Amino acid sequence: MIKVAPSLLSADFLELRRSIDLAVKAGADYLHYDVMDGNFVPNISFGQGILKAVAGYGALPVDAHLMVDRPERYIEDFAKAGARIITVHAEATCHLQRALSQIRALGCLAGVSLNPATSPECLRYVLGDFDLALVMTVNPGFGGQKMLPRAVEKIGEIRRMLESAGVQAMIQVDGGVSLSTAGAMVAQGADVLVAGSAFYGSDDPAAFVQGLKALG
Ligand code: DX5
Ligand code: ZN
Repeated sequence: MIKVAPSLLSADFLELRRSIDLAVKAGADYLHYDVMDGNFVPNISFGQGILKAVAGYGALPVDAHLMVDRPERYIEDFAKAGARIITVHAEATCHLQRALSQIRALGCLAGVSLNPATSPECLRYVLGDFDLALVMTVNPGFGGQKMLPRAVEKIGEIRRMLESAGVQAMIQVDGGVSLSTAGAMVAQGADVLVAGSAFYGSDDPAAFVQGLKALG
């Protein structure tokens, strides 16, 4: 069963409630919330205050993607603000295992994200410590970029690594997801698709979500 997570980075910030309602009506499963610090990535987005309002609205579970250096400094804030999933970048912390256990200890699902150039091998020694692996198929920092095909191969490598270790985890894909790119991602074993510009730019978001789910 494919799950879909519209990214609020492409929402109408003046009409956030309407953008959230749109995701619910379209049949989405999560709200993807991109936190950018202007350091780990060049862009700055929004933080825990707005996440608290979004999570408090209670429409869908919030999936917080922290594109932040040394994310361990903020994990507790995002957990308290109401995130259901907290994903940190493997490249952003030298204590990945500790960050993942910190997330679980706060009652959230723990995610680990890999930039396009990062090897899936960095997951090997934290297998069992995360609930979700996030494969970035663009260099993080901006919505609306073109998907990098080489990064898609990594989805299958991670799926095989999980299977041979007998470990359960979701594989989420983020970056350039559309009805034309998602088929290859699902074929490689993706089960959660993040879509920002393709979802909020769609004339028929419900058909878009159904189209993605039908790939599974
Ligand atoms: C990029 C973010 C994405 C972004 C995806 O750094 O992590 O979640 O919103 O946007 P699209 O779907 O437009 O590539
Ligand atoms: Zn994201």
